[in-house]
Amino acid sequence: MPRDPRYDLLFEPVRIGPVVAKNRFYQVPHCNGMGYARPHGHAAMRGVKAEGGWAVVSTEEVDIHPSSDISPYIEGRLWDDHDIPALALVTEAIHRHGALAAIELVHAGMNASNLYSREVSLAPDHVPSAAGYAPSQARAMTRSDIRAFRRWHREAALRARRAGFNIIYVYAGHGLSLPMHFLQSRHNHRTDEYGGSLANRMRLLRELIEDTKDAVGLNCAVAVRFAVDEMRGADGIEAQLEGREVIERLAELPDLWDVNVSDWSNDSKTSRFAPEGYQEEFVRFVKTVTTKPVVGVGRFTSPDTMVSQIRRGVLDFIGAARPSIADPFLPKKIENGEVDDIRECIGCNICVTGDYTMTPIRCTQNPTMGEEWRKGWHPEAIPPRRGDDSFLIVGAGPSGLECARLLGRRGYSVHVAEAGEQLGGRVTVESRLPGLAAWARVRDYRLNQINKLPNVEIFRGSHVTPDQVLEFGATRIVLATGARWRRDGVGRYNTRPIPGFEQCQRVFSPDDLLNGAAPSGRVVVFDDDHFYLGALLAEKLRADGLEVCLVTPAERASAWTVNTLEQYAIQKRLLKIGVRVFTNRNVAQFDGAGATLECTYTERRETLAADSLVTVTARLPNTELAEGLDLGAEALAAAGIRSIQSIGDCLAPSTIAAAVYAGHRYAREFDWPDTDEVPFQRELPASIAGRSHSG
Ligand SMILES: Cc1cc2nc3c(=O)[nH]c(=O)nc-3n(C[C@H](O)[C@H](O)[C@H](O)COP(=O)(O)O)c2cc1C
Ligand code: SF4
Repeated sequence: MPRDPRYDLLFEPVRIGPVVAKNRFYQVPHCNGMGYARPHGHAAMRGVKAEGGWAVVSTEEVDIHPSSDISPYIEGRLWDDHDIPALALVTEAIHRHGALAAIELVHAGMNASNLYSREVSLAPDHVPSAAGYAPSQARAMTRSDIRAFRRWHREAALRARRAGFNIIYVYAGHGLSLPMHFLQSRHNHRTDEYGGSLANRMRLLRELIEDTKDAVGLNCAVAVRFAVDEMRGADGIEAQLEGREVIERLAELPDLWDVNVSDWSNDSKTSRFAPEGYQEEFVRFVKTVTTKPVVGVGRFTSPDTMVSQIRRGVLDFIGAARPSIADPFLPKKIENGEVDDIRECIGCNICVTGDYTMTPIRCTQNPTMGEEWRKGWHPEAIPPRRGDDSFLIVGAGPSGLECARLLGRRGYSVHVAEAGEQLGGRVTVESRLPGLAAWARVRDYRLNQINKLPNVEIFRGSHVTPDQVLEFGATRIVLATGARWRRDGVGRYNTRPIPGFEQCQRVFSPDDLLNGAAPSGRVVVFDDDHFYLGALLAEKLRADGLEVCLVTPAERASAWTVNTLEQYAIQKRLLKIGVRVFTNRNVAQFDGAGATLECTYTERRETLAADSLVTVTARLPNTELAEGLDLGAEALAAAGIRSIQSIGDCLAPSTIAAAVYAGHRYAREFDWPDTDEVPFQRELPASIAGRSHSG
């Protein structure tokens, strides 16, 4: 289809210093859990972004020196020449598709743990290490340290150019780098020419830009990533005060400004806490004080919003991390007039969890993310059918729908039987909770794609029995029947049912609430799940006007959401709306009038008056159909069935991302031979790869 002329603006080339970007789509730096450790995986992932039409594809933060070692996190490294080949793989993959390659050079200063290198951390002042609660300090840099740091940065820029990068960043974003630490008055109490006035505190940033331009500026563009607002009021940089002044004073020095807000949790806000375009109010001044091109971010997935940002003079480039993860082909789809095929980011930050857990990146919407090299998965190119199989998928939740979409795209005949009247499973019900509306995109993208496939048919209100499955005539049966929440309190902390839970009519599971049950009076939400749902139900019940307490055996509310950057915002919101939060407490008993809480350290007990209790602990897979079909190979063969496979939550409850991944994986791999081999390529350390072990 031809492109909609309204979007032509997005495809104009833009000059950035000595280089030209072919359009306005700019993939800003984002880490991916592959970095220096898995360079082939990293390169393949960036290559797919370039193929998908991004004019600029950036690395993640790339540490420039052993004193900037942020182990155990896996980012990029450019410590010396040995790191060049791994990064050259990345630039080659990006250049192959006509995109510019950008590298974000970083010295993490006091944020570097240096656990691997065992160097002493560096900072403007003597300060405790910012890497968690590590009992170590960073030391104040002397003038000669500053000179050394400038030399390391310059050398890294030269190496980056040798690796093939076209855009080289000086990084002062997120409060995670030395030039930013020098800028922050709360961290910089120096009395020399690098401390005190703003002009002094920004001296290091200015010098780094000048050094980088001097070193590589003839052929490489020099970009600055700068957080104009730290969202901590007068204690930090504010967009209308020092944030603005920094850009005014350095306005024409770099070739490009990449501007955002800080810290990372404010920059990568989830859809629960911020809408698309949420950074505009902070960054809109930038273009009024510089003539250099400006990149900004804000979970942009709508081409109309993108055009509006450019027309209104807010941005020159549409920066994107998450939208490019959810759909690496977003620019191409707009260019080809396929806007309704865009797989829109849902703003859940599962992509961030890869970084926090030091594992390759994953994405709820895009199951191929992180699998480009190790499994050879491509987000758009899918192998065609290889045989005469036909499929019955039972269940139209995220797993069943993704499986149907992909099998359908491969050309197989697919029937989906959904017991209920609505499609989308847990995504549909959960997306009705406060702030989760965008999660419905998981369903909507898949249904939209399936509707274009004549070979996929969905039957609603079809509760199928084992006999009906046997009679159906499909050669492959896929069970995607989901899971249900337990009501007995068994979970992580309690391995046996909690007294009173099963007997009491006033105990509700999340399924009860999501299906319309309404607790009344004073409510205790017992959260032993630790992800988003417990706190979200507490928030909803509070909004319904109830008195709500959240009780959790963990040390904080929604403890696992540290990994999605949401924990602080969640607990803050609970406290602000008047939910009382009891941490390090188990619910030992509930009788409809009160909950007995028990301290997880001392076992000291107290009673909390409560009329209802919502228990969010663990789920049980819905295995009834699988059990009914466990008839042995002969009976199945007699019915013409080659395989029955459970996928997603009905196999083992997990995240929506894991359910989508399971559906995708089945559709790609269902006919792979059964082997004990590792099901993906691995990147073994170069020093031992290829050696065989005979002893
Ligand atoms: C998984 C992930 C990793 C990120 N890693 C980096 C990084 O290494 N360096 C950086 O400057 N920003 C990083 N960011 C922040 C993004 O560049 C971006 O500013 C932010 O996500 C907001 O843009 P978006 O709404 O398009 O995602 C990361 C974001 C995500 C989601
Ligand atoms: S994991 Fe979630 S937030 Fe991250 S890119 Fe995918 S859909 Fe967007």
